[in-house]
Amino acid sequence: MSARGTNAGKSGAAVRDDTPLSGCAALVTGASSGIGAATAVALAEQGAAVALVARRADRLEELAATIRGEGGSCAALTADLSDPVQARTVVEDAAERFGRLDVLVNNAGYVAMGAVEEVDPGDLNRMVDLNLTAVLHTSQAALPHLLSATADGPRGVADLVNVSSVAGRAVRRNNGVYSATKHAVCAFSEALRQEVTGRGVRVGLVEPGLTMTEMAAGAGSSAARGMPQESWLRADDIARALMFMITQPPHAAINEILVRPTAQEH
Ligand SMILES: NC(=O)c1ccc[n+]([C@@H]2O[C@H](COP(=O)([O-])OP(=O)(O)OC[C@H]3O[C@@H](n4cnc5c(N)ncnc54)[C@H](OP(=O)(O)O)[C@@H]3O)[C@@H](O)[C@H]2O)c1
Repeated sequence: MSARGTNAGKSGAAVRDDTPLSGCAALVTGASSGIGAATAVALAEQGAAVALVARRADRLEELAATIRGEGGSCAALTADLSDPVQARTVVEDAAERFGRLDVLVNNAGYVAMGAVEEVDPGDLNRMVDLNLTAVLHTSQAALPHLLSATADGPRGVADLVNVSSVAGRAVRRNNGVYSATKHAVCAFSEALRQEVTGRGVRVGLVEPGLTMTEMAAGAGSSAARGMPQESWLRADDIARALMFMITQPPHAAINEILVRPTAQEH
């Protein structure tokens, strides 16, 4: 991240004035690690004030210090998004803190691999509550703010990006519950896109393949499918796809990006 000129935003936080997202505010769920952390840094580099949302406060504060150290503006907001009340409240907190919300990245997710007969019922709930239900609640809570941002924002558009998965496009055994949640996110994203695109809110879907993060490392060998770790994507690869989507000119909406490691067949 390079140092940039700053001025005072509505929230009093420093905002950059010479970057594509200067004057904008973004919220990233699952910002304490992996793809979410990389995306939060990339958004701050492009001038957005970023709300970092996850459960681990220490990890969020560590990332916030890094972003501020590079001249960025951010707020660490802890929330357990599997609780719909917390999911909605954290969106309102971020919008209030920055005085606006131009970008929502629904990235937080959880996977527990296993055959349907074997998957732990608690894990089943956790995947549905976080991967799907939380996305519905944060999206609904964010929409009034995103719609306002199209009218009074520096860009004339707002962005809602959902991080799905290759598993949201292709179904494989031993991944049924996770795959079902990601397919549902895909359906929800397309319906929402049709509802709000005429009003300037771009709804996008990013579908990563195997990416070296805590989630993928913890998912075990069946997730790796024999691919050596050096061939996996890095979180930065997905953040780059997200930023390509978000920094398009106002008239261009990239609705979907599927990113696999070159070595990944399915
Ligand atoms: N890595 C891959 O191969 C891969 C492939 C396809 C799709 N994806 C998708 O990419 C997204 C990001 O995953 P990742 O790979 O970057 O994994 P990760 O490093 O494990 O990140 C998951 C994030 O979700 C947060 N989170 C988990 N439970 C939460 C809860 N109840 N409330 C709030 N935040 C919660 C975690 O933070 P806390 O623990 O601090 O709450 C963490 O920041 C997910 O949607 C995942 O499905 C990943």
